[in-house]
Amino acid sequence: MAKEKWLNNMENKMEKIVSLCKRRGFIYPGSEIYGGLAGTWDYGPLGNELKFNIKQEWWKTMVREREDVVGVSAAILMNPKVWEASGHLTAGFADELVECKKCKKRFRADHIDKKCSECGEKLTNPKKFNLMMKTFVGAVEDETTKTYLRGEITQGVHVNFKNILNSSRLKIPFGVAQIGKAFRNEINPENFTYRSVEFEQAELQYYVKPDEKEEKKWFEYWKSQRMDWYKNLGIKKENLRFRQHETDERAHYARDAWDIEYNTPFGGWKEMEGIHDRGDWDLSQHAKYSKQDLSYFDEETKERYIPFVIETSGGVDRATLFFLLDAYDEDGDRVILKLHPRLAPYKIAVFPLLANKPDLVNKAREIYLELKKDFAVAWDDRGNIGKRYYSQDEIGTPYCITVDFESLENKTVTIRDRDTTKQERVAIKELKEVLKEKLNS
Ligand code: GAP
Repeated sequence: MAKEKWLNNMENKMEKIVSLCKRRGFIYPGSEIYGGLAGTWDYGPLGNELKFNIKQEWWKTMVREREDVVGVSAAILMNPKVWEASGHLTAGFADELVECKKCKKRFRADHIDKKCSECGEKLTNPKKFNLMMKTFVGAVEDETTKTYLRGEITQGVHVNFKNILNSSRLKIPFGVAQIGKAFRNEINPENFTYRSVEFEQAELQYYVKPDEKEEKKWFEYWKSQRMDWYKNLGIKKENLRFRQHETDERAHYARDAWDIEYNTPFGGWKEMEGIHDRGDWDLSQHAKYSKQDLSYFDEETKERYIPFVIETSGGVDRATLFFLLDAYDEDGDRVILKLHPRLAPYKIAVFPLLANKPDLVNKAREIYLELKKDFAVAWDDRGNIGKRYYSQDEIGTPYCITVDFESLENKTVTIRDRDTTKQERVAIKELKEVLKEKLNS
């Protein structure tokens, strides 16, 4: 295929996803009836289920299935000293900004050439623009009540290092996981949910002995764990790669940093998740600023030290977008979201063959209500069966069950598979077990 045509198709794919998200209730523009708010997005009924399933899979793999990781949920608002200590109020957590000398529109310096893309006028020299979002806690709005919406969820873990140690029996190496919202005053939010001002992160802070061998071993371990997680949930391996940060590109806290990147239709390889070697930056800084002892005593070696931290930091909204892009497929006029069954918003849809035959509808409702006790199930009795299959394919439902006249005679239903479109007949009394097996295989 000619390169230009290929590119057009790829760009088209992003437009198709944005439109599907709006039409079917995955993602809407934030505050749309008031003209929106740049860089904010609302998840609709299906998007909310998809994102919830992604977070649940992450938590299962990163916390529940492990012995060495616990989870926390810290406050979004923190004492502003936290951000002084972590270095987020300085030039380290800032983008270079340029402003158009005429229309005053602002751009990220690394996103624009010499002229304003709106009016073609000259731009100012780049200046640093801090990304932390300010707010006030209390009745007066001044420097004494000023604080910030957290720019990364990370610090809520590190400030609780001593609390977690004192209230558990964890021994190094161990990890603390968290999922939650972070906020950044991005100058140019872009590419749908890819760069937003409010987004969700899923992070692990893994504390290790401050020794080069341990540091390297766990860094490599977590890199491969995280890559496998995306692959196991169905992202095509040709669309994933690692990229190491150049020294001048690394965040202020990082001794080493690698991104897991996804091959997007909007400009090729883009960051999905970062694996960072934060060294002892966070705990040392908090020890210094809070004047608290944040060291760890190793009972086995009788050594006292500040541990190093290996961090995995993924964006849940980016993952949601990339899972959607990767799953999108077309077969003629049929659109299919080939989402991994564990991620699909609905696992099953139940239909009566005809909506005007009470016997069929009653039997189908009975099955639907029974399955709802164990699975996320959709109901549809509109239009014809073909249209209902198409409608479920477009939102990624792996299995559709139809109750037809044969069902009333011999107590069986058909199960239709999203990816093969093949149908099989199954006894109603075995339905739950058959579906459980299919969804877990
Ligand atoms: N605690 C480390 C940290 O926050 P980061 O590379 O700045 O590292 C981690 O962010 C992840 O958070 C990114 O890989 C990305 O998935 C997500 N992320 C960062 N900024 C974002 C934004 N403006 N919109 C959506 N997701 C974002």
